[in-house]
Amino acid sequence: MPELKMLFLGDIVGKPGYSAVLENVARIRDEMDLDYVVANAENAADGSGLMPKQFDQLIDSGIDAVTLGDHIYKRKEILSSLQKSDRIVRPANYPESSTGRRWTIIKRSGRAPLGIVSVMGRVFMRPVDCPFAALDQVLEEMSDQCEHILVDVHAEATSDKQCLARYLDGKVTAVLGTHTHVPTADATVLPGDTAFQCDVGMCGPYESIIGRDIERVTHTTRTAEPCHFHVATGDVRLCGAIVTADPEGRATGIERFEKRVVVH
Ligand SMILES: [Fe+2]
Ligand SMILES: [Fe+2]
Repeated sequence: MPELKMLFLGDIVGKPGYSAVLENVARIRDEMDLDYVVANAENAADGSGLMPKQFDQLIDSGIDAVTLGDHIYKRKEILSSLQKSDRIVRPANYPESSTGRRWTIIKRSGRAPLGIVSVMGRVFMRPVDCPFAALDQVLEEMSDQCEHILVDVHAEATSDKQCLARYLDGKVTAVLGTHTHVPTADATVLPGDTAFQCDVGMCGPYESIIGRDIERVTHTTRTAEPCHFHVATGDVRLCGAIVTADPEGRATGIERFEKRVVVH
């Protein structure tokens, strides 16, 4: 089987990010000859959560699978999608009783199957179960079903993400960070042939504070007076990482992906 080429897109933020993905992903998929496209969509619904209709449209537009993060349950409507669909996963280190699957495997015809897992970090975040233990368990469950595995590490601290990436080096194809919405310049293939980037950045408006209106976030930060943080609109970009891998699931390359787009 030939080399596998996948694009992972970071947190889709609000209508600008969501529209940018819907309008461009099919063309990007063709132009770049991608085998798989996976996206984190935890901020799609007006900046927080994901609605079922949005999830369906993302899949229809050419996204193979969706990961989420700490905003996963902000829209309770998504619970039905999490129960029904095998194209969406919850963080694997959420409580056992949380709605959603801890991992999934997607398969396009003629391509090797791709396993998808998401875990949450623990530094500067709400308490969750141990991501290392959760990954041990999940990888054991998936081990004989796919060679290629993509792990979305949804975490605040770069050290948290680096620790998890080093722990997973040689065990998975790619460890790609989300949640901070700002791309990092550290994309690399680790010694054990696992591709890694601390944060792939968001799909959304970069003329913003991590996707939200600059004035409003600054006002609340300066005064401690809360106000609604509208999703910003300017400088919309699609950001992510492109990973290539050999038939055994070893990463052969990683490149940052960044594209400015006009949203209609
Ligand atoms: Fe997040
Ligand atoms: Fe996010």
